[in-house]
Amino acid sequence: MADATRKPLLTVLNGERCDPVPIWMMRQAGRHLPEYMELRSRAKDFLDFCYTPSLATEATLQPIQRYDMDGAILFADILLVLDALGQGVRFEKGVGPIVEPIEPGQRLNKVPVQKAVERMSPVFETVSRVKGKLDESKTLIGFAGAPWTVGLYAIEGRGGTDKKTARLWAHQDPAGLDLVLDDLVEVTAHYMAGQVEAGAEALMMFESWAEGLPDDVFEQIVMGPNRKLVMRLRELGVDVPIIGFPRGAGSLLPVYAEVTGVNAVGLDTAAHPPFINRELPQDFPVQGHLDPLLLLAGGERMERRVLDLIEAYQDRPHIFNLGHGVLPETPIKHVERVVELVRTRAS
Ligand code: CP3
Repeated sequence: MADATRKPLLTVLNGERCDPVPIWMMRQAGRHLPEYMELRSRAKDFLDFCYTPSLATEATLQPIQRYDMDGAILFADILLVLDALGQGVRFEKGVGPIVEPIEPGQRLNKVPVQKAVERMSPVFETVSRVKGKLDESKTLIGFAGAPWTVGLYAIEGRGGTDKKTARLWAHQDPAGLDLVLDDLVEVTAHYMAGQVEAGAEALMMFESWAEGLPDDVFEQIVMGPNRKLVMRLRELGVDVPIIGFPRGAGSLLPVYAEVTGVNAVGLDTAAHPPFINRELPQDFPVQGHLDPLLLLAGGERMERRVLDLIEAYQDRPHIFNLGHGVLPETPIKHVERVVELVRTRAS
């Protein structure tokens, strides 16, 4: 295993504390960086960008070069899986992603798993190029959307809605929804295993739409499929640490951590440190959870909160991160300041 000085982030994911705490940020690549905007203008659309290894490699490395983050997250998107499954994904400027919706009773299995994974093979090429260029001290994180979050886009046809259609499925046709989520477990497991084979050293499952679910529904559509995905990955021989990020899980987070078999959890903006410290085993690694809006706002309040979060988790393995992704309007100076504070404040 890597020693702490070599790969701090991986060390923490393996259950050991590091000081200073390692840091990276969700959506650290992308639109808040002028160098990304320049790069982005070279591809005709966003999907094309994700499937072009030279561009995606560069985008992955940009925040490492600029901020010296401890983790590099593969540049891709959770919706590539739906594109590979033939669901006609488009990214519309100012609107966000649009997907051809599936109807009740339909599955996500019209494209065989192996074919879908092949369609995403440029992503594996990106992983391997990044791995070749990344400094030894950095950890390369692969990722995918968790089944419910990806399934929700397939059912709703878009994100950012009240998710009523998809949540109604959970009540009206739970068996049908299970089949759709199983389809996603299988293709996602092979996709993530491919990333690890290409060089990813850790994996993260983004369950971005886990909030507001009744506990029995959460168990069925979030916890069950996350657990199946972790187990399937292990069956496929994947042995790297897996971070679960059930955003909005609230009081269900501890049971999620226990049941799914993830090695670490990403905490969202609303996480309450005393609750986390009381309810999660002391050696269980957590990642998070500065408010992206506070990062945007900057100033003394941001600085105090950074220090408070480090202190709150000083007795457990902790990776500094945000509670959700960096917002496009975020000033670069604020990100730089957070990195500086985290690095100089060893507890
Ligand atoms: O730096 C990184 O985090 C790596 C790359 C990454 C992207 N998307 C790039 C991206 C990652 C890890 C994601 C995950 C993702 N994508 C999630 C889960 C995390 C979360 O935010 O909850 C979700 C829900 C998506 C779906 C998605 N992709 C949406 C809703 C949008 C449009 C809104 C937006 O933020 O632009 C995207 C597009 C997208 N994904 C962009 C980037 C850099 C912007 C595309 C552009 O350049 O115009």
